[in-house]
Amino acid sequence: MVAKPKILVTRRYPQAVLDRIGQNYDAVINETDEPYDVDRLIGLAQGMDGLMPTLTNKLDRAAIERLPETVKVISTYSVGYEHIDLEAAKERGIVVTNTPDVLTDATADIALLLILGAARRGAEGDRLCREGGWIGWTPSFMVGIEVTGKRLGIYGMGRIGLAIAKRARGFDMEIHYHKRCRLSPEEEMGAIYHETPESLLAVSDFLSLNCPDTPETHHFLNAERIAQLPENPVIINTARGPVVHDDSLITALKTGRVAAAGLDVFENEPNFDPRYKDLPNTFLLPHLGSATVETRNAMGLRALDNLDAFFRGEEPRDRLV
Ligand code: DGY
Repeated sequence: MVAKPKILVTRRYPQAVLDRIGQNYDAVINETDEPYDVDRLIGLAQGMDGLMPTLTNKLDRAAIERLPETVKVISTYSVGYEHIDLEAAKERGIVVTNTPDVLTDATADIALLLILGAARRGAEGDRLCREGGWIGWTPSFMVGIEVTGKRLGIYGMGRIGLAIAKRARGFDMEIHYHKRCRLSPEEEMGAIYHETPESLLAVSDFLSLNCPDTPETHHFLNAERIAQLPENPVIINTARGPVVHDDSLITALKTGRVAAAGLDVFENEPNFDPRYKDLPNTFLLPHLGSATVETRNAMGLRALDNLDAFFRGEEPRDRLV
């Protein structure tokens, strides 16, 4: 009998995923789901053929260099891969894969929740109902920002950006976008292309951040760029926290230069800048983009498809390096 590949499963993934892991792998599973620090991860990786980490496991150059020689593949349970130093993995001959596609719809749904929640003061309204202070209907009571007909600027028109555009068309929003290469007319579906971020910012009544977290996008939304937005813009972030310069956004939310923000991701999450909590014009979620039963299962199964292909000697579908 051929021995099953040995893998380290760094979090407690959904049961359907663990069941499939059990059938095909000799796995060490993080049953308690406590986040591993690097030393623990490296210790548990000894003798493993592969790793199945996720975005909470930072595998920077130093960590990759400490991995044992036996580790030949890292299949991350996430679409984002900024937590893995791909260059270092490549140098060590380690294959890295991610899980695109399967979380597109769930994440786009959350972006729409943020658009509506931020514009229509969802968090404030909810608090008022629970904590008291609802004095009854008046013409000026809790008036928010109309979504219908507004211009939605999407910075980073990949799979998730496109899915947000599709949903936002249902609200008669006018779609604008920036990405390095213009989409085909079939993909654009009438969306207006902007060659530069500056041109996009100038028309973004709502700005949805959908770019990956890279050195180029780090703190993309800073004071200078906020100043280029139209009056009373709403900022939406379902991408990654470090794309926003918190100090600049918080200042703009305080002064009213930015009307509202809907944020699902934060720099240093879960220990995000506490000043966001004190602002009435923020609608905050704890990184829920992919958090549905269907999507979390699909992410695990996709990560396993990649591992299975690797161990069969085939090219994994979602190979990054
Ligand atoms: C990912 O997979 O990168 C998402 O952020 C998880 O929600």
